Amino acid sequence: MLSEKSLAAITHERTKYPAEQARSALLAALRIAQEEQGYLSEALMAYVADLLGLPAIHAYEVATFYTMYDLRPVGRHKLCVCGSVSCFLNGSDAVIKHLSERLGIGLGETTADGLFTLQEVECLGACKDAPMMQVGDRYYENLTPESLDALLAKLRGGSDDVC
Ligand code: FES
Repeated sequence: MLSEKSLAAITHERTKYPAEQARSALLAALRIAQEEQGYLSEALMAYVADLLGLPAIHAYEVATFYTMYDLRPVGRHKLCVCGSVSCFLNGSDAVIKHLSERLGIGLGETTADGLFTLQEVECLGACKDAPMMQVGDRYYENLTPESLDALLAKLRGGSDDVC
């Protein structure tokens, strides 16, 4: 179900913890699996749990708790808007509304072209620069309608390297 490279990476993560603490490697193992497959199907979660010698329910619990895991296919760019206190007080609702209107999708939805998924997430630890969102491995802070439009234009242009 996973490539040799991913299996080796999961094995490496497993070796970081004592034998009786396989569960500690679960977050990393699920991340590795998601990176390869795009999202975590029930079968994939069960497979990863089995690799670590854990009941499948342990993988389901983790994958359904953290928003970084996707339980169904998502767009190429997942726009994760923080909706926690600092961001909420600084306009995260307006950010979500703006993105929703521009993209024609609601929270949890993906554009028809498969390019964008819009998601609201909990605090990402960049509270002083609220409102903010994460796209891939990058944070975008002090968001404004103008900066959002500029970012969408660059992402539509195929750039994953947007500042
Ligand atoms: S409240 Fe948004 S990053 Fe912390």
